[in-house]
Amino acid sequence: PPRIIRTVDTLQALSAEWHRAGLRVGMVPTMGALHSGHLALVEAARARAERIIVTIFVNPAQFAPTEDFAAYPRTEASDVEKLAALGVEAVFAPNAAEMYPAGFATTITLKGPALGLETDFRPHFFAGVATVVAKLLIAGFPDVALFGEKDYQQLAVVTQLVADLRLPTEIIGLPTIREADGLALSSRNAYLTAEERAVAPILAATLQEIAAGIRSGQPAAALIEAGTARLVASGFRTPDYLTLRNARTLAEPVDLATEPLRLLVAAWLGRTRLIDNIAV
Ligand code: PAJ
Repeated sequence: PPRIIRTVDTLQALSAEWHRAGLRVGMVPTMGALHSGHLALVEAARARAERIIVTIFVNPAQFAPTEDFAAYPRTEASDVEKLAALGVEAVFAPNAAEMYPAGFATTITLKGPALGLETDFRPHFFAGVATVVAKLLIAGFPDVALFGEKDYQQLAVVTQLVADLRLPTEIIGLPTIREADGLALSSRNAYLTAEERAVAPILAATLQEIAAGIRSGQPAAALIEAGTARLVASGFRTPDYLTLRNARTLAEPVDLATEPLRLLVAAWLGRTRLIDNIAV
């Protein structure tokens, strides 16, 4: 079974020991409630590193007071079992006081890929993510850290963070793992009622439909309008955003013919906020 580590000091010492032994260290940061999407990141880490640290920390700094911090699923024992089955060497599961002791006063602020999209609806979110990810990378000093494209803007923000601070970790992004019906796996899918779960795959289907239309040369604005109408008719609230962006910068595309494009969506279904994105 993995070693369960609760303090930054212990993790730093363990990682240093591994590095002295010439071993490559991989890290998969998570908030737990692990599903096959998380486990795919762990398997990909195994291909790139001899020692794997999975972090499990429901990071209070990335939740607004009105959000689901208290309700967020916490399943540490079964998470550790799943990671044991994959041969993970260490699980870093600190408590909030270890990560944010009294007097903690530092927060990373961001521009670039953090502007717009999630930030328009969750303005606190990426400062919380970037601060905790920086802390996790400094605690574990991994050679490589793996993130999912499921949280596409987060992946862009973390890539920018590591480049800007010159943290010596390679950031790898991996494709979204989906249910058979297309729904992107998410710990928050546990909030969906049976009725909502039946509707939820329409989010991914709508993205596919819009992407296919754009590829075949139809005007993006009309496709997005029709996609929005389909989501609302299916029971989603009007999406927070459903938008086509440059896949690298996340800025609004200027030339659809030459830029790499990504279609991104966030929409509430009942009390669950779902996000998804696909390449065009
Ligand atoms: P969490 O939502 O637990 O996700 C942890 C990692 O798993 C992220 O990199 C996320 O993109 C990836 N992931 C989630 N669902 C996925 C799926 N269906 N397919 C592939 N990868 C998936 O994202 C966070 O935690 C936090 O913000 C964190 C980075 C840990 C900072 O607190």
